[in-house]
Amino acid sequence: MSADYQKDGQIAVITLNNPPVNGLGLATRRAVVEGLNQANADADITAIIITGAGKAFSGGADITEFGTERATQEPHLLSVIRAVELSGKPVVAAIHSVCMGGGLELALGCHYRVVAPGTAVALPEVKLGLLPGAGGTQRLPRLLGLETALNIIVSGETVQSEMLAAIPGQKLFDLVAASAESLREEAGAFALKIAAQRPLPLVRDLPCKHPQAEAYLQFARNMVKGMSKNFPAPAKCVDAVAASVKGKFDAGMQTERELFTQLMFTPESRALRHLFMAERAASKIADVPSDTPVREIRSVGVIGAGTMGGGIAMNFLNAGIPVTILETKQEALDRGQATIRKNYEAQVKKGKLKQEKYEERMALLTPTLSYDDLKHADLIIEAVFEELGVKEAVFKQLDAVAKPGAILASNTSTLDVDKIAAFTQRPQDVVGMHFFSPANVMKLLEVVRGKQTPKDVLATVMKLAKKIKKTAVVSGVCDGFIGNRMIEQYSRQAGFLLDEGATPQQVDKAIEKFGFAMGPFRMGDLAGNDIGWAIRKRRAVEQPGMKYSATADKLCELGRYGQKTGAGWYDYEAGKRDAIPSELVNKMIEQHRKDQGITPRKISDEEIVQRLVFSLVNEGAHILEDGIAGKSGDIDMVYLTGYGFPIHRGGPMHYAGEVGLVNVVQAMNRFAQNPHDDAAFWQPAPLLARLAAEGKSFS
Ligand code: NAI
Repeated sequence: MSADYQKDGQIAVITLNNPPVNGLGLATRRAVVEGLNQANADADITAIIITGAGKAFSGGADITEFGTERATQEPHLLSVIRAVELSGKPVVAAIHSVCMGGGLELALGCHYRVVAPGTAVALPEVKLGLLPGAGGTQRLPRLLGLETALNIIVSGETVQSEMLAAIPGQKLFDLVAASAESLREEAGAFALKIAAQRPLPLVRDLPCKHPQAEAYLQFARNMVKGMSKNFPAPAKCVDAVAASVKGKFDAGMQTERELFTQLMFTPESRALRHLFMAERAASKIADVPSDTPVREIRSVGVIGAGTMGGGIAMNFLNAGIPVTILETKQEALDRGQATIRKNYEAQVKKGKLKQEKYEERMALLTPTLSYDDLKHADLIIEAVFEELGVKEAVFKQLDAVAKPGAILASNTSTLDVDKIAAFTQRPQDVVGMHFFSPANVMKLLEVVRGKQTPKDVLATVMKLAKKIKKTAVVSGVCDGFIGNRMIEQYSRQAGFLLDEGATPQQVDKAIEKFGFAMGPFRMGDLAGNDIGWAIRKRRAVEQPGMKYSATADKLCELGRYGQKTGAGWYDYEAGKRDAIPSELVNKMIEQHRKDQGITPRKISDEEIVQRLVFSLVNEGAHILEDGIAGKSGDIDMVYLTGYGFPIHRGGPMHYAGEVGLVNVVQAMNRFAQNPHDDAAFWQPAPLLARLAAEGKSFS
C-alpha cells in the first residue's frame, strides 16, 4: 500500500506514503481512490483529509515510473482528481514540506487546503519541457490570479507557502496552520467545521478574470519568447494558462491536454527528461552499493594555489569546510590567496554574497608553506604543475604526512592516475578529482577511478561532490578521461574543416547556431591554444601516424595562443573579449591550403555540425566500449555541464539517438570518402555499428 487509511473519529485520513517524496505512482493513485471510496461508504465519516507521510505532502509524479506503462495506467492523476472532486464528503488537503507538480495539482482538486508554514510550492513541469497536465494550468489561476499563477507555471520555480498566503485575495489556502507539528490537528478541526457545508466548493467553478488579460498575456508571450528561444514549453504554458481566462473550465482542460501531449513528443522535452534522469543516475555507480560506508570529510588540503587550486579551495569554503592551501613560495601563496579574495569581493560587489559570509569563508582558509599543516586533513587535492616529476614529489610528501585513511586526490587533466597512485605506499587512498576551469564556477567534476581506488573512496567523493554542488561523473583512467578524450577528436575535425575551405568564424557560427555555448576556435582562444599544441607534440611521439591539420600548430608558431596573448584564431582588442575575425589568420589558412594543394570548397553548416558532433559520438562509443564511462548518460552529463553542449539537444549520445544511429553511421561512411578527412577517423566504433544495425540507441 502506498497510501495509508485511518479513521480518526468522524474523519478519514488518507496519508500518501511512497518515500522519499510520496511520488504519485500507480499504487499510491489506486490507494487514494480506494480510500475515498471507503470513506464515502462509511456512515461514521463526515470529512476526509489527504496528507503526506514523512518529508513531503507530495513531490509529484513518481520518477521511477517515467517512461513506463505504469505512468499512464488508470487511475491516472486526472482520474484521481476527478474522484476527489466527486467525493460526496468534503476533502481537505493538509499540505506540508513539499507540494509540487502533480502533488500540487492533487491539492488543487481538493475542496479545501490547509497548509503548514515553510511549504515549498511549485509546478516544475516546464523544467522537463512540459506543462502541468493535470489541471494545474486551469486551477492555479482561479486561486491565485492570472499573473501569479502564470509566473509559477512558466518559471517552474519554488515559492514558499508564506509568500502565497500573503497575497491579498488568494484562495489557494483556506487556512495556514501555526506550525508543521500542529497541521494535522488544525486540519482536523477545520474539517469538522466545514463538514456539513454544501455545496462542496470546487475550484473548477470559480471565475478566472483579469482586467487586461489579453494585454498581459501578450506581454508574457513576448517575455517568454526572448528568454527561452530553444524551448517550446514556456510559450505553451502561456497558451494553456490563457485558456483559463478565455473559456469554460472543461474547454481549458482540453487545451491543457492537447498542449501537454504536443510537448511530450518534442525533442526538447525528451532532452530535458533525459538530462533529469541522467543527472540522478550519474551519482550511482553500478558496482558501488548506495549503502557503501563513506569516510568523513571535515577538512581539506589543497596543494598549489594557482588557477585551479584557488578555485577548488573556494568550493569547499563555500560549503563551510575548512581548507589548508599549500604552496612552495610565500609569493605564490599570497597571489593565490589574493585571487580568492578578489573573486569573493566581486561577488560581494554584485550583491551575490553578504560581507559577513565572505569573511566567514575567508576565515576557513589557512595558507601554509609546510606539509606538516596537512597532517589532519581528511582529503588532500593536488593541483600543481602538470608534470609527472612534480606530482611524484608532491605525492611522496603527502604519503609521508597525511593521516591514515586520508583521501589523496589529483586534479591532473592528462596524467595517469594509477602512476600517481604508485608514488605512494597507499594507492588504495588515491583518486582523480578533475575539476574544470574556473573550478569555482563549472559544475562538472570527473571522478577518476584508478585501478585500486576502493568503493568507499568513490562513494565519499560522490557524496562530497553533491555537498559542493558539483555534478560528478565517474571516469576510468585513460588519456583525457571522458571529456578531453572526446574533445580531441572534435578539435581534429575542426582543423580538417579549415583545411578544406571553412573559416574559423564559419565553423564557430555553425556550431553555435546548433546551440553550443562556444565554437571550437573561440573556445581554443579562451582556454589557450598552447594546451592543444603541447598535446599534439606528445601525440606526434606516441602515435606518429595520426593525421592533424597543421593550421593550429602554425597559429601557435605565430605566438597566437589566444586571449591571454591578445591574439589567437581571432584578434582581440586590449581588455576586451570580443572575437574579431583575423585577416592574418585567414591568409595563413589560405596559404596552408595552397601548400597542401587543396582547392577550397564551400562547406555547408549542416556538414560542419555533423562532423563536429558525430566525432564526439564516435569517440563516446569507444569510451563506453572501453568501460571508461559506465553509461551513455554519464557522457552526456560531461558534455552538458563541462563543455557547453546545448541542453535542448540532451548531450551528444542522446542527440545521436534522436538523429538515429543508422543515420549517424551513414553520414560517417560518407565523411570517410572525403580525401581531405581521415578515413580511419570515421570508422564507426564497434558498439555504434552494432547498435545502429540493431536499430537501437545508446540508452
Ligand atoms: P597553475 O600553473 O595556474 O598553478 C599551479 C600552481 O602550483 C602554481 O601556483 C605553482 O606555484 C604551484 N606549485 C607548483 N609546484 C608545486 C609544489 N611542488 N608544491 C606546491 N605547489 C606547487 O596551473 P593550473 O592551471 O592551476 O593547473 C594545475 C593542475 O590542474 C594541473 O595538473 C592541470 O593539468 C590541472 N587542470 C588544469 C585545468 C585548467 O584549465 N587550467 C583544468 C583541469 C585541470
